[in-house]
Amino acid sequence: MEVTSSVFIDMKAQELREAYVKFFKDRGHAFIRSASLVPENDPTVLFTTAGMHPLVPYLLGQKHPEGKRLVDYQKCIRTGDIDEVGDAGHLTFFEMLGNWSLGDYFKKESITYSYEFLTEVLNLTHDQLAVTAFEGMGNIPRDEETAEIWKNLGMPEDRVFFYGLKENWWGPAGITGPCGPDTEIFFDDGRPKCGPDCGPSCNCGKYTEIWNNVFMEYFKDAEGNFTPLENKNVDTGMGLERVLRIMNNKETVFDTELFAGIISKIEEITGRNYSDEPRAFRIIADHVRAATFIMGDGVLPARIGQGYILRRLIRRASRYLSNLGVDDIVMANICEVVISDYRESYPELERNREQILTNMEAEERRFHSTLKKGLRRFDEMIAESKEGEVLDGAQVFRLFDTFGFPVELTKELAEERGFVVDTEDFDHRFKEHQEASRAGADMVFKGGLADDSIETTKLHTATHLLNSALRKFVDPGITQRGSNITAKRLRFDFNLDRKVTPEEIEKIEEYINGLIKQDIPIVCEEMTYEEAQKREAVGVFQDKYGERVLVYTIGDVSCEICGGPHVKRTGELEGFKIQKEESSAAGVRRIKAVVGKQ
Ligand code: ALA
Repeated sequence: MEVTSSVFIDMKAQELREAYVKFFKDRGHAFIRSASLVPENDPTVLFTTAGMHPLVPYLLGQKHPEGKRLVDYQKCIRTGDIDEVGDAGHLTFFEMLGNWSLGDYFKKESITYSYEFLTEVLNLTHDQLAVTAFEGMGNIPRDEETAEIWKNLGMPEDRVFFYGLKENWWGPAGITGPCGPDTEIFFDDGRPKCGPDCGPSCNCGKYTEIWNNVFMEYFKDAEGNFTPLENKNVDTGMGLERVLRIMNNKETVFDTELFAGIISKIEEITGRNYSDEPRAFRIIADHVRAATFIMGDGVLPARIGQGYILRRLIRRASRYLSNLGVDDIVMANICEVVISDYRESYPELERNREQILTNMEAEERRFHSTLKKGLRRFDEMIAESKEGEVLDGAQVFRLFDTFGFPVELTKELAEERGFVVDTEDFDHRFKEHQEASRAGADMVFKGGLADDSIETTKLHTATHLLNSALRKFVDPGITQRGSNITAKRLRFDFNLDRKVTPEEIEKIEEYINGLIKQDIPIVCEEMTYEEAQKREAVGVFQDKYGERVLVYTIGDVSCEICGGPHVKRTGELEGFKIQKEESSAAGVRRIKAVVGKQ
């Protein structure tokens, strides 16, 4: 679609990030750095899917050390649509520009700020915008207030639309959590409406959602009840790639500057042109970009959880490279481009460069060595079946188990040849095999977002004790590689290239149970990141912290930068037991443990 407006400016991604942050800083917002893609202590999601994720405790009322107005750009992964990637719009990894009011301003200021940013900084005009508001549900009223604010700003009445729950209600991100009605802002590319009902919710291409302002004033509990939150918050999210596409008048996000270097690297490697093979190129570009960021946050390819998603991405990209005739190990070269294009905004990529490149190469090699054999086995399976038949779960599971074929890959291969896969049967086997991780979706457990019940709070404190006990009794070089807490157990991943011995496990349990008996108080202090470093507080990734941080200290046992929450005294844990010690990925061990009277 040709857009012939004179207002478009040739904006670069970094300029957009900076313009956004500056605009909100000038209006009293503190800049916070992007959190890790791996949510800390949130049992309900595999990845950070929106800018609000790392802020859930603060949206629920905890005081944020940086104040009540925040702005950031947050790296996000959404895995629900991996198999859709390849078309013009879907991305696995994307950046979300966001601003928040934690119990400070509400609808009027939020909408006014968005309006000013769009019209004064990005120079968009009314006839390039359309907005929506919530039409009401049960005892939650139609959001006339939002519509009025838009009209008072000069938005013509026929550009303000009302929709229901599906379109104009956001959250919770998990089963439970903060949520509320929203107003969405769309770019209108100026083409005629496709019919009388054409509006922002139509997918004819006229409208592109660019910004979502959520008025988070409710908490949804596990029973589905909505209760008003103590604070009325604003949570907004704007898709960086989409806005850049619009600002630069490009047809797809893949035509923007963000993908230029990556795509020309793939052209160089394959000797093919993007324009001849757009789908394969987009899949490779999206998946390698996402995989680079995931590895940049310390995740390694694995059979479950985040590591499994990573493996799926790498292996799908690898297969498309092989479809384009590439037999060599090449993907680390594409990672290099991602690192160099993004290192200014996300310095962790540069810091973890070696780890990213080494792991990419190792995973690609592993897959190459089984791909051919797996494909042979797959072809035999197909030869033994009739077209249109269902491939049974046992066969598909064998491809997964023996040849490392993610089920989604088998499904894709099967569909290409007119077959379907019995996914139910496969899922059953997969679940038996894999415990609680439901790969392929962002949701992990149905326990609820930020379930900060007393049990998870206790386990959170136990995680800090375990972290320090491991350094004391096993290896002083141990650091956290991942943490996941449900109401039932903690799971802690850390770097170590051997088993933790039974003797060591006994010592750790004895030590932590001793600390619980001593009933040590847990002290929470707010300080600058520098002060925290001086105290040698343990932290996961430097870049996820803002200027001011919370530090939790447990006697002389543990001192960690952490968002909390924690119990008041170690005695509340009552007891501690390690249930399992196992390998999680190469060089990474995993401990599962419980608290309570043993
Ligand atoms: N959390 C909101 C979204 O993801 C802003 O759209």
